[in-house]
Amino acid sequence: MNILILGSGGREHAFAHKIARSPLCTRLFVATGNAGTGQVATNVNMNIMDFKQVGDFSYQYKIDMLLVGSEAPLVEGIADYFADQAQLRHIKVIGAKKAGAMLEGSKDFAKKFMLKYNIPTATYRTFTPSTLAEGLDYIAQHSLPVVLKADGLAAGKGVIIAESTEHAQATLQEMLAGKFGEASNRVVIEQFLSGIELSVFILTDGISYKLLPSAKDYKRVGEGDKGLNTGGMGAVSPVPFADDAFMQKVKDKIITPTLQGLQTEKIDYKGFIFFGLIKVGDEPYVIEYNARMGDPETEVVLPRIETDLVALLDAAAQQKLADFGELQINPQTATTVMLVSGGYPEDFEKDKAITGLAEIQDAIAFHAGTKLLDNKVVSSGGRVIALTAFGDTLQEALQKSNAAAATIQFDKKYYRKDIGFDLM
Ligand code: AMP
Ligand code: GLY
Repeated sequence: MNILILGSGGREHAFAHKIARSPLCTRLFVATGNAGTGQVATNVNMNIMDFKQVGDFSYQYKIDMLLVGSEAPLVEGIADYFADQAQLRHIKVIGAKKAGAMLEGSKDFAKKFMLKYNIPTATYRTFTPSTLAEGLDYIAQHSLPVVLKADGLAAGKGVIIAESTEHAQATLQEMLAGKFGEASNRVVIEQFLSGIELSVFILTDGISYKLLPSAKDYKRVGEGDKGLNTGGMGAVSPVPFADDAFMQKVKDKIITPTLQGLQTEKIDYKGFIFFGLIKVGDEPYVIEYNARMGDPETEVVLPRIETDLVALLDAAAQQKLADFGELQINPQTATTVMLVSGGYPEDFEKDKAITGLAEIQDAIAFHAGTKLLDNKVVSSGGRVIALTAFGDTLQEALQKSNAAAATIQFDKKYYRKDIGFDLM
């Protein structure tokens, strides 16, 4: 099979790393990829939001499977585009159509869906510029802290947790006035849930599903989970507190009703669903849905999957997951530690030469933001390299990830040395 992966981060390198090893993969392309994906696949320079360009390439290079890494092309309808074109229709697209990607693309849609299908989530109301006054009143009556969310995609910045009524009201005004552009034309105001977060992933063919290993990511830039939110500074899998009893609740109260809801709504969904959950007491609640895998969670989830990934994706595309056997999962713990450019998630410098990649031991370096410049690997983003390692214990895996993190050098390198701190 010829396979095209869309994306250029650590998640896509982790996919490429796995897929390149599958005997079912003939040629592998990543658009646009990075210096890491370039070692296991052919990088293709294209605008992944230009569906005609993606489609023309796929036709020309006889692509059999398209794997969409990030949410933006899904929410804009790339899977619908492929289904609508006679010459692309045969291509197996792993990624939801626009209607399913709305679970991520609109917080208001996701909340309505959860309410309708009785899926546990924080209570909420949605406001628009014409209902601003009611929104301000709603906040005045609301307990604190209170959570405000831009309805649309806002690159991970659209959630504000306000500690005071004044801050919440000012935030609502700013958001509805266009702080996040169109994404904040509607604002969801919801109850703050207190608990511990985790990420649960499934691959679904619309009817059946396979549960993938759970993971926990570390979103804040500073140690002890302090400071600004980032794309993710590290992750671990499995999550020790997500035991069998808890996961059974997740299946019964969240995953099954979500799939039943999609079927009732006649939303044909072939792809990943990422459930951003919070455990409140012993109960799981949905914080958010994503129509894609997480990053950096993918860098710990995929390495633990021993089943052939291409065979698994193919079964999902053909709606044959029900007949696909149990997944083989490595029982060890996987951890990843993200090296970032100093200053991230605010201003940072790029094009820093990266050394030490050949010296790392007992760890895999998944490139997140790198490129080749004069044949040398340099940084090209805020998140630069994720270092994934295995261990029989969380401590052992972390010790290897951290040792690899110390080995790789670039100017103004920064990483958190306390990934997993809350799980020990
Ligand atoms: P999101 O962009 O929806 O993932 O939200 C970003 C982060 O905000 C989440 O990972 C949580 O840490 C936090 N958050 C979002 N909604 C809530 C909520 N209702 N209660 C507590 N924390 C929340
Ligand atoms: N690591 C969280 C995300 O991918 O959204």
